[in-house]
Amino acid sequence: MKMTKLVVLIVMIALALFVVIPNLSWAADDGATLYKTKCAACHGADGAGKPTAKIPSLITDDAKKGSDAQLTEMVANGGKDKKASHAFSAKGLTPDQIKMVIAYVRELQKK
Ligand code: HEC
Repeated sequence: MKMTKLVVLIVMIALALFVVIPNLSWAADDGATLYKTKCAACHGADGAGKPTAKIPSLITDDAKKGSDAQLTEMVANGGKDKKASHAFSAKGLTPDQIKMVIAYVRELQKK
């Protein structure tokens, strides 16, 4: 009897961890979430930018032609002009997170 209770308890804890751990570690690293928290305020949820505020669209044909390397450089270090608003690697985004956010921008460009 005692043994079964222990087994049930262990199973419950294991299940709880399965539910909690992915939510903790993946939510913050998800490209869409990163985009929403770090980019959408300026570039818009759909990536269309705000032309009136001189914030470029990320989903124009020109933007689609940019290479991943250019996008990465822009997001990580602010591009060739070293825009401080874009030096996301200095603001704590890891190279993996920058890759994910760019993958999400590519998704937006397909819509
Ligand atoms: C504070 C507002 C702001 C935030 C936040 C921001 N951007 Fe930008 N972004 C701009 C502005 C303004 C420009 C135009 C810079 C320039 O060339 O003068 C720009 C340019 C760009 C460009 C180059 C586009 C082009 O056609 O030249 C890319 C790519 C880009 N942003 C991606 C991102 C991504 C991805 C994020 C989130 C990780 C982000 N931006 C966050 C304001 C912002």
